[in-house]
Amino acid sequence: MILVLNGPNLGRLGKREPSIYGADTYEDLVNLCRETAGKLGHDVDVRQTDSEAELIGWIHEACDGAIPVVLNPAAFTHYSYALRDAIAQRTAPLIEVHISNPAAREEFRHTSVVAGVATGTIAGFGLQSYVLALHAISEMNTTS
Ligand code: DQA
Repeated sequence: MILVLNGPNLGRLGKREPSIYGADTYEDLVNLCRETAGKLGHDVDVRQTDSEAELIGWIHEACDGAIPVVLNPAAFTHYSYALRDAIAQRTAPLIEVHISNPAAREEFRHTSVVAGVATGTIAGFGLQSYVLALHAISEMNTTS
């Protein structure tokens, strides 16, 4: 099992600033993750929330079950120390993903408080960032 967790505003993909995030919808993202995980032989649970508390609860669930995570923390990336502290408790891989390349955008997006406690970060490849992250987790061979 792999958890794919998405933070605030990502449920609005397709409608949200398409010049930055593309025309594909959140449903397209869910289908892409399911298709990719299926090909790799893994079950996947794809979730999205606008709530920091709910996202942290899902990270706790992943920590307790040693479940690998692909995480797009969205804007929480840049300021949520609570999310960072939750991720720091993990034992399984967690890959931070971004659709856009935050390093090429506004200054406030250049800081990730999550990156230092993630296994690694994949950013700037559109929805393919998730595909690459699922492949990376699969290669790490820690899922059942
Ligand atoms: C994002 C980048 C963040 O800076 C932004 O707040 C998002 C989406 C991305 O996937 O490119 O909501 O995480």
